Amino acid sequence: MAPELQANILKSHGRRHTAQLFFRFGHGQQPAARLFLEEFAHTEITTAQQQQADTAQTKIDGQQRFVVTLLLSAAGYAYLDVPLDKRPGDARFAGGMKAANADLLDPPVATWDGGYQGAIHGMVLVALGERTRTRLDQHVRAIVKRLRHKSPKGDRLATVLCVEEGDSIQNDDGQDIEHFGYVDGISQPKFFVEEMAGLDTTNWDPLMPISLVLTPDPAGSVDNSFGSYFVFRKLEQNVRGFKEREKQLAKELFGDETSELAGAMAVGRFENGTPVTLSDDDVRIHNIPIPKPDLGKLNNFNYDTDPGQRCPFHSHIRKSTPRGDSVGLGDTLEGEKNRMMARRGIIYGHRFVHPNQAEFEEMPTKGVGLLFMSFQRDLAAQFEFIQRQWVNNAEFSRATPPTGLDPVIGQGPLPDGVQRYATTYGDPASTQAASAFGGFVTLKGGEYLFAPCMCFLRHATSAATQQQMAMQH
Ligand code: HEM
Repeated sequence: MAPELQANILKSHGRRHTAQLFFRFGHGQQPAARLFLEEFAHTEITTAQQQQADTAQTKIDGQQRFVVTLLLSAAGYAYLDVPLDKRPGDARFAGGMKAANADLLDPPVATWDGGYQGAIHGMVLVALGERTRTRLDQHVRAIVKRLRHKSPKGDRLATVLCVEEGDSIQNDDGQDIEHFGYVDGISQPKFFVEEMAGLDTTNWDPLMPISLVLTPDPAGSVDNSFGSYFVFRKLEQNVRGFKEREKQLAKELFGDETSELAGAMAVGRFENGTPVTLSDDDVRIHNIPIPKPDLGKLNNFNYDTDPGQRCPFHSHIRKSTPRGDSVGLGDTLEGEKNRMMARRGIIYGHRFVHPNQAEFEEMPTKGVGLLFMSFQRDLAAQFEFIQRQWVNNAEFSRATPPTGLDPVIGQGPLPDGVQRYATTYGDPASTQAASAFGGFVTLKGGEYLFAPCMCFLRHATSAATQQQMAMQH
């Protein structure tokens, strides 16, 4: 299926820099829009097969290669007049992210960045692994020009609503970090056996079937044409607020505002990626070198022997991947793992002082954050379930006493005295409730999209012809 599938779904593009370009086709431009999709599929889009070949080639010649993908929203499918039975059928996709606003407890659309407030038809992702953005930006400008092309009558093919620039930052060990300073992207479902080489999976096996993220594309015209549902969320981070709260919590719990354990308990991992649930002894037993940990090894854990006295139930990673906490609450471990997503996010916003070195006054309160992106086969059962039933749900995974919200991305009422932490690491008797931690991440816009199979895009005009013929009958 690899020639029919777009890149970046089964394996991350892994590039340092990206551009996410959101567009809306112009009024009455359907024929030109379909032609654009066909040409773009032939000339620009990277298939999963190409991605694999490029990775191998880059290992040989060191040359960096672009990854380009194109995704459509439900409004985009409707605009293109794709027959209803050929459109991706997920009900949440059909509504779009704005329709999910109340369910997700998201901030009102009127507070989002302007580019996201109106209808979005699609997104183009361009990624490149070079040190600077120069060649990437040139390429993006050329795509913007194609999209804004004017017909002889003066009508534009599309409006470019916004272009988000993603630029990864690495820590001293060369690992990608997010703006609060923590290593990110460690825990992912894996789809290729070769990625499992050397991994100990006794406590957590990340190998998942590709059906976790792929679904047949109803518009596919050849066998094995698959697509994937995509979540995009621009999440602004108030770094200063978060780091200040970490310090206050450290003082409240341990009487020492320099203790890194408080922040680690909120996230579920220390800044260098070590899971809080693994004690020093565990880390030694697993022979994990600190401070340059082997991140793959740091994913072989679960919470079976940790009823909250090491890693709090509400910590970000425990809420978003409970690794068995939901077994018995109507879910099996297999069912729970079926909710995982392939995360493909990248951070945005320029910082002149490295996140791991910034003094308090040097930390931004806005303008930086995470472009959260994920692939899944079912929006309601995966992204939305995680955000609504786990992250935003104070009673998951324990109702008495309630667990509280995820301090990183939880949305909803955030009372003091609910989130609980063990003040002596590993001692359940020392567990106490603390003042509320949360509210430092704000949604600035987003959309649900679908990565169509290549054959639909390559034959976008003939798909439209079929539709017109069907209408004439
Ligand atoms: C600004 C927002 C966010 C920040 C700063 C953030 C930060 C992090 C960090 C530091 C990790 C640990 C690294 C790892 O295990 O890979 C992590 C893991 C994770 N995050 Fe986030 N994240 C954010 C948004 C989200 C959102 C919106 C979701 C989904 C609703 C999400 C779901 C996950 C999942 C599923 C994991 C893996 C947990 C595991 O498997 O143990 N994150 N995040």
